[in-house]
Amino acid sequence: MKTILITGANRGIGLELTRQYAAEDWRVFACCRIPEKAAELNDLARQSGAEISIHRLTVDEHDQIDALARELDGEKIDILFNNAGISGPRPQSFGPIDISGWMRTFRVNSVAPFKMAHAFLEHVERSDRRIIAVMGTLMGSLADNRSGGSYAYRSSKAAAHMVVRSLAADLRERGIIAVVLHPGWVQTDLGGPNALISPEESVRGLRKVLDSITLQDSGGFFGYDGREMPW
Ligand SMILES: NC(=O)c1ccc[n+]([C@@H]2O[C@H](COP(=O)([O-])OP(=O)(O)OC[C@H]3O[C@@H](n4cnc5c(N)ncnc54)[C@H](OP(=O)(O)O)[C@@H]3O)[C@@H](O)[C@H]2O)c1
Repeated sequence: MKTILITGANRGIGLELTRQYAAEDWRVFACCRIPEKAAELNDLARQSGAEISIHRLTVDEHDQIDALARELDGEKIDILFNNAGISGPRPQSFGPIDISGWMRTFRVNSVAPFKMAHAFLEHVERSDRRIIAVMGTLMGSLADNRSGGSYAYRSSKAAAHMVVRSLAADLRERGIIAVVLHPGWVQTDLGGPNALISPEESVRGLRKVLDSITLQDSGGFFGYDGREMPW
């Protein structure tokens, strides 16, 4: 049985990732900040039996990451999916920005994926697929940014992309594939109601990408439709 760990699994894309992987008979370590309040995730776990286990994890709390890695000691993780993310403080256009909110955005979006990769390295190495996926975004693309603004979100995601490039180089010898994924513009709390695609469509595409990638793709940046994205 293949195994995936998903952060931010209680709503949005993370909840849909949990739903679709569990439906494909994967074992899912579904992580969220407040399990007691994760009603939809708890319902899903109850319906699908033993395949989904729910774990408390605030990704910018490094002690919690270490504690979960210890709790899952000996387990294998085929895909470590760093999905949790925040858009950051408001407003973020050129002008006064809440700087401590910006720093928190960095801790959640850029530093946490590194810390997760480090803490769960052995679990990933023990698996067959050996994938570390980080949810990036086209908003974090240097090449694509012609409209400006979103300083905290864009810069934190660009940093996350760079973290993945280094992970790909550093972990290649261990057979680990590190990739950045862009989920599309998705109808979630973060994406908003005007977004173009549903979480179902996004996750169907992301799963296809994750199914097909090999070590040769490590260090790549892929859209949910399989296209390579500009850095
Ligand atoms: N939606 C889009 O159009 C879009 C486009 C490009 C990239 N993305 C990326 O896709 C990922 C998922 O986004 P989404 O649209 O599903 O957003 P969402 O609906 O706002 O969900 C965000 C998830 O991240 C969790 N989270 C936030 N801060 C956390 C922390 N410190 N520790 C642990 N979990 C935390 C949230 O948990 P709580 O419920 O506890 O807050 C929630 O489960 C993000 O990385 C986002 O940047 C989304």
